[in-house]
Amino acid sequence: MKVIRVKDANEGGKKAFEIIKDGMENGVKILGLATGSTPETLYQEMTSSDLDFSEMTSVNLDEYVGLAGEDVQSYRYFMNDHLFNQKPFKESFVPNGKAADLEAECKRYDGVIAEHPLDLQVLGIGRNGHIGFNEPGTPFDVTTHVVELTESTIEANKRYFDKVEDVPTHALSMGIGSIMQSKKILLMAFGTDKADAIKGMIDGDVTVDLPASVLQNHADVTVIIDEAAASKL
Ligand code: F6R
Repeated sequence: MKVIRVKDANEGGKKAFEIIKDGMENGVKILGLATGSTPETLYQEMTSSDLDFSEMTSVNLDEYVGLAGEDVQSYRYFMNDHLFNQKPFKESFVPNGKAADLEAECKRYDGVIAEHPLDLQVLGIGRNGHIGFNEPGTPFDVTTHVVELTESTIEANKRYFDKVEDVPTHALSMGIGSIMQSKKILLMAFGTDKADAIKGMIDGDVTVDLPASVLQNHADVTVIIDEAAASKL
């Protein structure tokens, strides 16, 4: 893993943007994208840049079960709001959290990923080391699946909702197996909340108990962390 230390999330977003820009100049056409607070500064850099994404495809990691794209808390809404409305991509895929048949939706999304193999996957990391919504204990070879969110993840994500009871209990997530197929991976983490997960990911054993540790087995991972997230290294 290549670890880049930055002062804060703003500098991290600028670094991540440079990596994506450089990737696009070198053949990256399919971007895997994440939601949450971590990539916000990256998306600000992308929207305020003069880069054109209209020949690019994006494939998002996850979506809450039960939320439609028009729901402001949905990940589809987040992506439209933070990136796609300002910078349209040729195609932008996000799992459908309102699918009547969730298992069929997982299969469909696996088909999307197979047809659009990821060149560069952007990741955040959960406090418990999750990537996408692959919570601790998830086997490393899974593809898109329905996830029951852990208490810790619901607690962390309640800030986007009026009350904790409103946080969906389930999500659809791209699997670790698919994330690991991406040619390049760019993970960002900012803040002390992430320090334990970052320590385990970089220095710990590779274990399903800390899903991000699997990235030690990937040949091309760049990690961008601020001082707070790096504080336990
Ligand atoms: C979001 C995702 C999650 C987040 C993680 C960190 O699409 O896949 O793994 O990256 O929960 O969330 P933030 O960035 O809000 O701390």
